[in-house]
Amino acid sequence: MCGIVGYVGSEQAGPILLDGLSKLEYRGYDSAGIAVRNDETGEFQIVKAKGRLHELYIKTDGGRTTKGTCGIGHTRWATHGEATEINAHPHYSDDKNVVGVHNGIIENYQELKEKLTRKGYSFYSETDTEVVIKLIDYYYKKYLGTPVDAINHTLVRIRGAYSLAVMFKEYPGEIYVARKDAPLVVGRADGASLCGSDVSPMLKFTRTVYYIDDLQLGKLTKDGVTFYNLDGDEIEIEPKTVNWDAEAVEKCGFEHFMMKEIHEQPKAITETLNAYIKDGVFDLSAAGIEDDKLKTYQRIYIVACGSAYHVGVAAKYVFEKMAHVPVEIDIASEFRYRDPILMKDSLFVVISQSGETADSLAALRLVKEKNIDTLAVVNVTGSSIAREADYVMYTYAGPEIAVATTKAYSCQLINMYLLSMAFARAKGLTSADELDKLIKALYALPGQINEIIGDKERIQWFASQFSTSQDIFFIGRGIDYAIGLEGSLKTKEISYIHSEAYAAGELKHGTISLIDKGTLVISVATQDALYEKTVSNIVEVKSRGAYLMGITNSGNYNIENTVDFVVYVPRTEQYFTTSLAIVPLQLLAYYISLARGLDVDKPRNLAKSVTVE
Ligand code: M6R
Repeated sequence: MCGIVGYVGSEQAGPILLDGLSKLEYRGYDSAGIAVRNDETGEFQIVKAKGRLHELYIKTDGGRTTKGTCGIGHTRWATHGEATEINAHPHYSDDKNVVGVHNGIIENYQELKEKLTRKGYSFYSETDTEVVIKLIDYYYKKYLGTPVDAINHTLVRIRGAYSLAVMFKEYPGEIYVARKDAPLVVGRADGASLCGSDVSPMLKFTRTVYYIDDLQLGKLTKDGVTFYNLDGDEIEIEPKTVNWDAEAVEKCGFEHFMMKEIHEQPKAITETLNAYIKDGVFDLSAAGIEDDKLKTYQRIYIVACGSAYHVGVAAKYVFEKMAHVPVEIDIASEFRYRDPILMKDSLFVVISQSGETADSLAALRLVKEKNIDTLAVVNVTGSSIAREADYVMYTYAGPEIAVATTKAYSCQLINMYLLSMAFARAKGLTSADELDKLIKALYALPGQINEIIGDKERIQWFASQFSTSQDIFFIGRGIDYAIGLEGSLKTKEISYIHSEAYAAGELKHGTISLIDKGTLVISVATQDALYEKTVSNIVEVKSRGAYLMGITNSGNYNIENTVDFVVYVPRTEQYFTTSLAIVPLQLLAYYISLARGLDVDKPRNLAKSVTVE
């Protein structure tokens, strides 16, 4: 959702802000703006544009029309008020004394707006952000205090989730930041300080970052960063080193981030495996998880959203078969409002690439209140979910920019396999030989994924034949159903083609009536034990006129008797087939989107990180 950047240093801020915003485009937005304080006149130059960042780029000549070394920028994903130039950030107080940007939602903005109106303020936009900026201005003037005092007074009055970056005309060369339940990172470089919704805008300058906590405040100047608590007292925050490099947020010759990230999967999986497997032995102590502790858990709850939820669906099959642990899985937005009955001797697992998804974070908090152990499977270091869970099992996918997740999803699967193996080991359900075999199979996955990617032109050809489809159905049983769910989501989110995934056995209970002559049905059949059952379902849709694409393991050649187009994936352990069978489906979604001329990396209406519920 919205993206924030800030820079104060010796260089011209405008071009740096524009470049920083381009690194946050993936979060989703519909307008953008920057504010730069002119070093000589002290005036703020605020420029905004509706639509793509390119519009702002043209308007500001790449940021060069603004003059000054201190500024903030924003990409807005409209919530309060339409996507217009007026509603775009930055917003400012009536006398342009206070200028700021905001990510998140202020729940009580109406009540605050009324209060400010009574105090003589007027409003030019429909946004909650303008209310916050004017509230800061109000307290700044009322108490004649410092920016820190004014912001702190505001923080205790506003409710909701937010991150803020604010400048004051009377405080040149200073940017103030604060957050609650929304991401904001501060970076410190040689002679410059930066802030961002994540680290990607600052990787060109520094890898030294500070993760501020809820209701903490930061002051950024060219010479350093200072942090404060809600009382206005200075506090220490430990700097952390980010191990992502600047290249990780560039396309590096690929046409789209999504294709780059599909190709990065083998490396990302290897790095994730290497984090937990040393000299052939796997050990989750890096995540603080000991086998003795695992033994005590009688069940697992997995909660997540979107693709991360689909990882959970696949993992349920793996945990129950391999580790004999009952698993309950739910979508975070449902879980948090259904008064779940949770048993004490359980482990709660939340899966999230960004670590900032509002519903997943709320679900985690709800479970923590019930004193149940929590484990986060997260990609972004220092994110809210990573900081609040009892245990963190990081994925090592590196920054994921395309809205449609690929490499983070693949790494989440790896962590869930490893966790399941750890449960099986802790419960004495698996021998050392069996574990060795599984580890070898895990390390074979990157090479097998490369093989599948090597055949991508065939999938591109198939995608070009079906890019005008009205509907695409995915069917499968067990793990293959979980693969279908993800394949279907990939397809619909970037190709805008209606798509559904069904447990193959469910078809006869209603859905089969939708199958017509030429309807594309993609069947996934990688589970040997379920293969024949799925083939029977394939035959049923085939005889209703469906056009069949099949994904199965190498060697299952008799599928060619039934389906029209087959993609064979290399054989692996039954538990790990999701990691291979998903790759052709990622490629298919990508190529359909490309053939339809759509914005593959930034599909309409979607945001990479959903920080509002
Ligand atoms: O950051 P998270 O993993 O918590 O995000 C969850 C979903 O929003 C995400 O997986 C979404 O479904 C993807 N865009 C799908 O490709």
